[in-house]
Amino acid sequence: MRSLGARLALLLLTAIVLVVISSSFVASLVMRGPLPDLMIDRTAQQLAILAAFAEKDRVMAESAGVTVAPMSADGPIDEELSQSLKKALRRISIMREAIITHRSPNELAASLKLSDGNWLIMPMPPHGPPPDGWKILVGWLGLIIIGSVLVSIFAASKIMKPLRLLEQAVAAVNPDGTLPHIPESGPGEVRATAQALNGLSARVKAATESRMRLVAAAGHDLRTPMTRMRLRAEFIKDDEERSKWLADLQELDMIADSAIGLVREEISKDGLQPVRLDEVVLSIVTELRAIDMNVKSGDLENVTINAGTLAVTRALRNLLINAATHGHSATITVSNLGNHAVVRIIDTGPGIPEDRLSQVFEPFFRIDIARQKSFPGAGLGMAIAREIVTRFAGEITVRNRQPNGLEQIVSFKSADANATS
Ligand SMILES: Nc1ncnc2c1ncn2[C@@H]1O[C@H](COP(=O)(O)OP(=O)(O)OP(=O)(O)O)[C@@H](O)[C@H]1O
Ligand SMILES: [Mg+2]
Repeated sequence: MRSLGARLALLLLTAIVLVVISSSFVASLVMRGPLPDLMIDRTAQQLAILAAFAEKDRVMAESAGVTVAPMSADGPIDEELSQSLKKALRRISIMREAIITHRSPNELAASLKLSDGNWLIMPMPPHGPPPDGWKILVGWLGLIIIGSVLVSIFAASKIMKPLRLLEQAVAAVNPDGTLPHIPESGPGEVRATAQALNGLSARVKAATESRMRLVAAAGHDLRTPMTRMRLRAEFIKDDEERSKWLADLQELDMIADSAIGLVREEISKDGLQPVRLDEVVLSIVTELRAIDMNVKSGDLENVTINAGTLAVTRALRNLLINAATHGHSATITVSNLGNHAVVRIIDTGPGIPEDRLSQVFEPFFRIDIARQKSFPGAGLGMAIAREIVTRFAGEITVRNRQPNGLEQIVSFKSADANATS
């Protein structure tokens, strides 16, 4: 019972059923027939009058609806009612034999012995609930419960509708962390929540843009002092010292470049064009092999996606370089799965500690600076790759392989799937 809608429906159902049951109980108390004691007293009085009549004029008594017969009325005797009748007769000083019998399930008869030995038989209205009253009660309650269930489910789903719309909108978070605009309508509370979420989304967007502007500006502005430093470094006399300065400056340059690259990807609105993924991969492999990287291609199936060629090349190149450097050797394959194109890159390196796998796409994430000494980098390659892949509605995941190595999987909807969907 976790959903709010189900709880609301149950609450409504319980409330309706309780109200109906208690009001039915009160109604039955107010509207029920006369109490048995009261009824018996009246029956005793009627019997006494009719008996007096019958003893005088039997025909006249019979014309009043009673019977005079040598035997009491047939049918099983109701002991309890018979005792009550005798007591009621005694109260009006009539000490005669009297019984009440059930002639049929719905019909009672009171019999009073007359002084001549005959019996006066008088029909009585049934008292108490009808014999199949419980069936009526069960049917009545059943109808109430069915009706209440329908009303409760309808009411709960009506009340929950704006909340469900809100939930759907929040679930559709954009890759940049902002939300699609949520309609500000419905009940007051829902409207206020939608307004707050729209405001939050706008603030996140503004903050992301200003952060990107800051990173880009910093990367750009660093370039001038770095050029000056490189010039000065050239004049350092000690060869070893000079090459260390120049290497550090080159790394700084690369970090500034990557930072600007990430921002460029985040704000890029490249148009879509058909891209042959297998051809892109082949060209990256050729390019990296030319600079002696340990990269090879496996099966490259022919598949086309809708994306930007340059951006996809940049993303896959970053992943492949990681596999060739951090992962010692890289093998890349492209599979055409009909609806999807899947690029798989595997390596034979140390992989990434399981508890840090989720951080690998964060900007400036690097596992262990000591371990990376030999591979200078900014820690932005994966962030840039993810930015590009999600921009083209693809997915990127990484997982460790057994016994060692990392597997990077990138999947895009194939162009055919996009065309048919
Ligand atoms: N295939 C891999 N095997 C092991 N570790 C990896 C692999 N790929 C990435 N990593 C780890 O993830 C970190 C982040 O990778 P990312 O590509 O973002 O940055 P980088 O390679 O250090 O620098 P650059 O910005 O130049 O790419 C790396 O520093 C490395 O520690
Ligand atoms: Mg990298």
